Amino acid sequence: MERPDNWIWWQHGVIYHVYLRSFQDSDGDGVGDLRGLYGRLGYIADLGVDAVWVSPFYASPKRDWGYDVSDHIAIDPAFGTMADWDGVTQEAERLGLRLIVDWIPNHTSSDHEWFAESRSSRENPKADWYVWADASESGGPPTNWPSAFGGSAWTWAPEREQYYLHLCLPSMPDLNWHNPAVESAMFDTARFWLDRGASGLRVDVAHWIGKSGRLNDHDLDAGGTFVNAAKAFTPFESAEHTHDMDGPLAHAVYRRLRTLLDQRQAVALGEIHLPPERWSTYFGPPDAPELHLPQFFGLLGAAFTTDGIASTVDDQLSALPPHGWPSWVWGNHDEPRLASRIGPGRTRLAALLLLTLPGTPTLYAGDEIGTPSLDLAPADSRDPLAGQGTGRDAGRSPMRWTPAPNGGFCPDAVAPWLPLSAGPSVAEQETDSGSLLHLYRDLLSLRRAHPALHRGTYQRTHAPDGTLAYERTDGSERLRIVLNLSDAPASLPPGRVLLATHAVTDTLPSGAGVILQP
Ligand code: GLC
Repeated sequence: MERPDNWIWWQHGVIYHVYLRSFQDSDGDGVGDLRGLYGRLGYIADLGVDAVWVSPFYASPKRDWGYDVSDHIAIDPAFGTMADWDGVTQEAERLGLRLIVDWIPNHTSSDHEWFAESRSSRENPKADWYVWADASESGGPPTNWPSAFGGSAWTWAPEREQYYLHLCLPSMPDLNWHNPAVESAMFDTARFWLDRGASGLRVDVAHWIGKSGRLNDHDLDAGGTFVNAAKAFTPFESAEHTHDMDGPLAHAVYRRLRTLLDQRQAVALGEIHLPPERWSTYFGPPDAPELHLPQFFGLLGAAFTTDGIASTVDDQLSALPPHGWPSWVWGNHDEPRLASRIGPGRTRLAALLLLTLPGTPTLYAGDEIGTPSLDLAPADSRDPLAGQGTGRDAGRSPMRWTPAPNGGFCPDAVAPWLPLSAGPSVAEQETDSGSLLHLYRDLLSLRRAHPALHRGTYQRTHAPDGTLAYERTDGSERLRIVLNLSDAPASLPPGRVLLATHAVTDTLPSGAGVILQP
């Protein structure tokens, strides 16, 4: 981890992840939108974060809730208008917040005009903008590749008498990045949003564009390529993925994307679900860098124990190249809620960890108030993955702003697109100085004030069984973080307490953590 002289905002900053459909409805249709976000930017700025990553708001038939884009440079009417986006960018700038938009290079919607043209015949100008292949000798799909969303990754298109590839839904065909015209068109879409107020891209399933170009069957029983072990059960996650992703092509593309971004001082976060040694390759070599922040997802599957957390930190730091920068994600719109995964009694410790580990944290909206997972009957599910038993609605319930039945997310007379999960509201936590929300604010402000916390080195220190301790040091500033994950009170090293998750005396109660100035 290099220590550049000019610390860059995305290195010392904190990113707040907004799942737009679930953040704030402004027009009473039960769906969050850009005007809703506009009205809540003040709340986000007060929290003390630096950037907001906004999930897709582009034109889309919404079969995967916007990750299926039918026009990359148009705003879906459900989310508002271009004027609304411009309003968001102006207000964000006034408040000192950066905006990061989702960029989805692996696939488009089948409703995209590029795909309509591509599927129309084998001779049309966009014929190879997507991944097309003839049937296998037996007449079936070209390979045994499973889709991440269930079933085969191939669908037959009678117009061309060929199959097309889709690692997600059949309505989300994969683009063919071997074709330079695809890169050029997709880079234009990135330029569009960077020129229109975005300071960065969150690159959706970034490693998936690296297809080898060869159509060899997978070993379907290879043990899983995903870091999140909890997920390594579906056929997709158990397969070997030698040819459908993570090949050299992705690296070549991201090298060029990096040039485009650096010219605009913009950042690329990458969604990379790969084991640490593969994940780290997305930083690129030092003289030909790729993504700025390939996001590390190890915490999502880590056991909430001293060993589980320490080994996850070691996994990332030991795989990190010298020019790389760590990142931490403990929740997002694809996962059950943090509070439900680790237990509500541990959310304060989780906040302390997320905001004191070395590197850039991403905080998922709602986790700062301890929102629990939405418990939804399978029949009420809205996620296309629900049929596979791995539905993602649990982490997508609308934000609870007030104690009103619909939480101030939308009018009470309107049905929100997903029900709200139980749990406290922002308004209730505002008035309680001991709330999780206040702890997040205090941590964020302390992190900003202390260089050791946002850019210091990291060193694990000796700690009694069941506790985890580490030091963050910058110049003469040295801070020690101690967390007690055991069931009994632990002894506390001497030092001045800068912040504690619970009342501490000379011992640290079970489930508590502190930041100390030794
Ligand atoms: C990413 C998104 C997820 C989406 C998928 C396909 O994993 O986070 O929500 O379904 O990509 O675009």
